Amino acid sequence: MTKLILILAAQILLAAAVASSEDFARTMNQEHLGLPKKEKLTHLRFYWQDSSKGPKPSSLMIQQPVSNSSFGSVTMMDDPLTLDVLRNSTVVGQAQGIYAGAAQGEVGYLMVMNFAFKTGKYNGSTIAILGRNTVFSKVREMPVVGRSGMFRFARGYVEARSMPSDFTAGKVTVQYNCYVFHY
Ligand SMILES: *[C@@H]1O[C@H](CO)[C@@H](O)[C@H](O)[C@H]1NC(C)=O
Ligand SMILES: *[C@@H]1O[C@H](CO)[C@@H](O)[C@H](O)[C@H]1NC(C)=O
Ligand SMILES: *[C@@H]1O[C@H](CO)[C@@H](O)[C@H](O)[C@H]1NC(C)=O
Repeated sequence: MTKLILILAAQILLAAAVASSEDFARTMNQEHLGLPKKEKLTHLRFYWQDSSKGPKPSSLMIQQPVSNSSFGSVTMMDDPLTLDVLRNSTVVGQAQGIYAGAAQGEVGYLMVMNFAFKTGKYNGSTIAILGRNTVFSKVREMPVVGRSGMFRFARGYVEARSMPSDFTAGKVTVQYNCYVFHY
């Protein structure tokens, strides 16, 4: 008899445990997160300023390439993003991450970077890019794979276009146009 009661009690506890384990997820109203009903599309344009040489480089090669296509190279960057093509124009954020030579037959980088914005309403917000960057192509499209702050729930893509650059001085400028759906 006692045994039966114990078994029943155990089954009730198990049922309760199963029920509560389903409680970790629930449907909620998006307005509770302060999100409006509709998404908007934002276009951001800025210039990625890489500087690998000189007294204060913003990028650092941490692994040398094994081929003339840059294959195998790994570079860490904390590059300013400027409002205008000129390097000394207003900085709107930083591109922080890695570019790595990932192609053998051409110059093609794996880009893994956060765009961390630091002006206006986007101050403190980020989007994360992970993509393929064949730098001699006119336009390189890369997906937005992450987001935070104003860009929570965002999805989108970026287009990179090389601007006139001084390779011997290690100064490279790339225009980024970002198209982002977010709330
Ligand atoms: C790399 O070297 C090979 C053989 O010398 C040459 O055919 C190729 O064009 C070079 N590639 C680049 C990106 O310089
Ligand atoms: C920025 O650089 C350009 C050219 O390099 C120069 O003509 C201009 O005076 C600079 N502007 C400032 C605010 O330093
Ligand atoms: C951006 O936010 C940081 C941290 O909250 C603050 O220190 C900084 O002054 C802000 N910058 C601008 C331009 O609003």
